[in-house]
Amino acid sequence: MIKILFVCLGNICRSPTAEGVFRHKLHQAGIQDGYLGNIFIDSAGTGAWHVGASPDRRSCEMALKYGVGLESLSARKITRQDFADYDYILGMDRENIRNMKAICPPDQQCKISLFMNYAENCPGITEVPDPYGGGREGFERVYDIIDRGSDGLLKYLLAHYTL
Ligand code: 4NP
Repeated sequence: MIKILFVCLGNICRSPTAEGVFRHKLHQAGIQDGYLGNIFIDSAGTGAWHVGASPDRRSCEMALKYGVGLESLSARKITRQDFADYDYILGMDRENIRNMKAICPPDQQCKISLFMNYAENCPGITEVPDPYGGGREGFERVYDIIDRGSDGLLKYLLAHYTL
């Protein structure tokens, strides 16, 4: 089984959106995720402020416009165990990568990369920007970027694994 963890700062905007959008794309492609499938996905934050909270209302509303439900997700903080458990640990921005590398055991550091490394047709966009303190346009932009990144990630995985 391949295990993928999406990581941002608060685990209430970007990484739960990535988890929800990517799961939606898996299901659309007829791929089952979770313990019964060949792929398991989750999301986490490097910060603990919102642990236990649902995703940000603005992220939920944006995702729902595209038929993706995020309401059932609940924020958690990344743990050292995650670095052992997951195969791909994908940070939304470079600050997430720095925060993770500071706590990740040396032999697991190779699992950490930028989510947008897998995107295609996104020249110059290497990070998913933090939308938390901004307006609605920021959430729209984040959704669009995550949608493109998810397409690229799915394409990559289909080329390298049997899902
Ligand atoms: P996220 O956005 O990392 O995409 O979940 C944020 C959510 C909350 C905070 C920062 C970013 N915060 O500082 O509380």
